[in-house]
Amino acid sequence: MTQILEVRRLSMEYTTRSGRTVLALDDIHADIGENEFVTILGPSGCGKSTLLKIVASVIRPSSGEVFFEGRPLTSPTARIGMVFQQPILMPWRNILENVLFPIEMMGKSTRSYDAEARDLLKLVGLAGFEKAMPNELSGGMQQRAAICRALIYDPKLLLMDEPFAALDAMTREELGIELLRIWSERKKTVMFVTHSIQEGILLADRVLVMTARPGRVAASIKIDLPRPRTINMVSTHEYGRYAEEIRSLISGGQQIAAA
Ligand SMILES: Nc1ncnc2c1ncn2[C@@H]1O[C@H](COP(=O)(O)OP(=O)(O)OP(=O)(O)O)[C@@H](O)[C@H]1O
Ligand SMILES: [Mg+2]
Repeated sequence: MTQILEVRRLSMEYTTRSGRTVLALDDIHADIGENEFVTILGPSGCGKSTLLKIVASVIRPSSGEVFFEGRPLTSPTARIGMVFQQPILMPWRNILENVLFPIEMMGKSTRSYDAEARDLLKLVGLAGFEKAMPNELSGGMQQRAAICRALIYDPKLLLMDEPFAALDAMTREELGIELLRIWSERKKTVMFVTHSIQEGILLADRVLVMTARPGRVAASIKIDLPRPRTINMVSTHEYGRYAEEIRSLISGGQQIAAA
């Protein structure tokens, strides 16, 4: 498999306002293959968001390197998109305008992306809501719009930091299945952070399990469940084995929701 992302000896030390230093990531190595769906699980505070922010070039690491498509990653690129835990839509813009915002930021003509934005909204079940304002949509619908906004410039690598954490279980499962459909239709690579072992297994080709702070990669577990994935797979023996293995790998597993 061709690697799209190579993370080498990556460490991140934060200096807090009181002058204390916090080692958030310690010597991280990871390879992400092209079109691979990788989920990242680990205790709270182990550096999952830090890792994603470094890959998104939002922050710079203290040491180490990240290679994207074979080249050192030094500045933000439109080939990498990010979806955060909260949709953060602009309340004064309608849904279509929110989805088109990155295009405007890049100084491109939004008109030439109008059809693509409408297609994406349709793909996530938001056809008919183009002119609605964010506050007229449910949390799940807003998160769908935020996913469209990350997809509008067709990034190759999609970074998702607990994108469904604020949603109820049913919407969460539904959006997970939808995300898998988009991923397989549009040939994306996905790095997806979650606290849910179930979500982590059901979505993934591979699960990266991180240790408690300072974060290191404790294990990389290939998930051989067949695709398309369904929620019913949680009752299979194979699923149970993966869940048990991951739970035992995560130190202080009580910080992780069982669901
Ligand atoms: N800007 C910052 N300044 C100082 N310390 C920080 C900063 N951002 C994160 N940290 C620290 O780095 C560590 C890792 O934080 P990070 O947000 O990456 O963890 P996480 O794995 O995403 O946690 P969670 O699962 O709770 O979201 C934490 O101990 C946190 O307190
Ligand atoms: Mg986080």
